[in-house]
Amino acid sequence: MKFHIQTWGCQMNDHDGEKLSGLLSAEGFEAVDSAEEAELVLLNTCSIREKAVHKVYSELGRLREEKQRRPLMVGVTGCLAQQEQAALFKRAPHIDFVLGTMALKQLPRLVAEAQAGKARVMDAGEYPDNHLFPPSVTRRRDTAKALVTITEGCNHACTYCIVPTTRGAERHRPYGDVLAEVRGLVERGYREVELLGQNVNSYAGGCTFADLLERVSEVEGLEWIRFTTSHPMNFTKDLARVLVANPKVAPFLHLPLQSGSDRVLKRMLREYTVAEYLERLGYLGEGRSRMALSTDFIVGFPGETDEDFDATMRVLDEVAFDGSFSFIYSPRPGTPSLRLKDDLPMAVKSARLTRLQQRQSELTRASNERFLGREIPVRIETHGPNEQGWWLARSGEWKTIHLAAGPGRELPFGELVRARVTLASPHFLGAELV
Ligand code: 5AD
Ligand code: SF4
Repeated sequence: MKFHIQTWGCQMNDHDGEKLSGLLSAEGFEAVDSAEEAELVLLNTCSIREKAVHKVYSELGRLREEKQRRPLMVGVTGCLAQQEQAALFKRAPHIDFVLGTMALKQLPRLVAEAQAGKARVMDAGEYPDNHLFPPSVTRRRDTAKALVTITEGCNHACTYCIVPTTRGAERHRPYGDVLAEVRGLVERGYREVELLGQNVNSYAGGCTFADLLERVSEVEGLEWIRFTTSHPMNFTKDLARVLVANPKVAPFLHLPLQSGSDRVLKRMLREYTVAEYLERLGYLGEGRSRMALSTDFIVGFPGETDEDFDATMRVLDEVAFDGSFSFIYSPRPGTPSLRLKDDLPMAVKSARLTRLQQRQSELTRASNERFLGREIPVRIETHGPNEQGWWLARSGEWKTIHLAAGPGRELPFGELVRARVTLASPHFLGAELV
């Protein structure tokens, strides 16, 4: 059977896609690049905002038509599957099976049952060993960086967020398992790993997250460690120390702030004030100047006033984030923020988002300009130059690099090379091979 997995959402979901792909490959199924060629299409979904959900339903609509023309099995997994469960069959009766986010290993069984003619097959159970997925099964996409799960789930309760519902409470992988996987990856040629969790900072698989970073960094041959994502309240002094001092931990920190107004943060149940967030950034000390910082913002949260939003703009400037992701608040089913009055006109929310994003592009441009003339290590992320003749690479600070290698020169995929930055655009850095 030929299968295709379409994934939306975060790195965690990407990595689930790699695990699911491995499970099907182990059954002798063959991965293909498009839904058109596939006999089984698996939609690995995200439900963080309404827009993400729309994309899934629109793809489901397309597959319904395709299913009328030819035999096709359609499965839905990921966060929307966990959230909607059997309700998905009502909305889209052509779905053959639904697989929750905490039941990944059940995939072959669900496919077999659907193949045997059973209708509306579903498993959205919470298997306690879901996070202990065997690394040998995972079938990784062809990227220079390997994703590695360290924790699943989230114990915070931000009022806007669907993730505690779709991913459950925290489960931690024992650090020995993590280390064994990283060693195996390095043996297979990977030089960079990204440690994953809905909240990696609260890691408790036998040591703290700061200790885990130190232990992983001792794996010989590994060059860079990244991690995502973090809650500010679990960002400790120990972690800041490792981040600044350990040369294998990439100089990049994504620490979601969400709002610059204490009033809004309280309504979001973020558990910190702006001052506390800034205090935690302060843990980085003078090492902070050598790192890139990024964050997330939600604008137009219920009850957000002009003053609240101005406060967000002030913090944006004060921290001068190197990058940020910002979104208009999207009400999610079953979340506590649904009870808050959301009567701000969409035009106001959009105007705020535009203002924030414009200011961020200025800050990002300034951040990029600081790299001009510098010589930095970058990792090659493509197998060849693009049409403009650039090789794509990435720096430790998570800057996209367009690298000129000179005519006919081949650069080894996944290797670290040194590059001199010659151009700073708002979205990338241009560089020459040194
Ligand atoms: N509406 C808008 N943005 C959201 N995020 C999470 N939930 C919502 C929501 N209901 C944003 C947060 C989070 C990022 C991954 O997505 O900024 O950090
Ligand atoms: Fe989307 Fe969040 Fe689920 Fe990731 S964890 S797929 S961002 S809803």
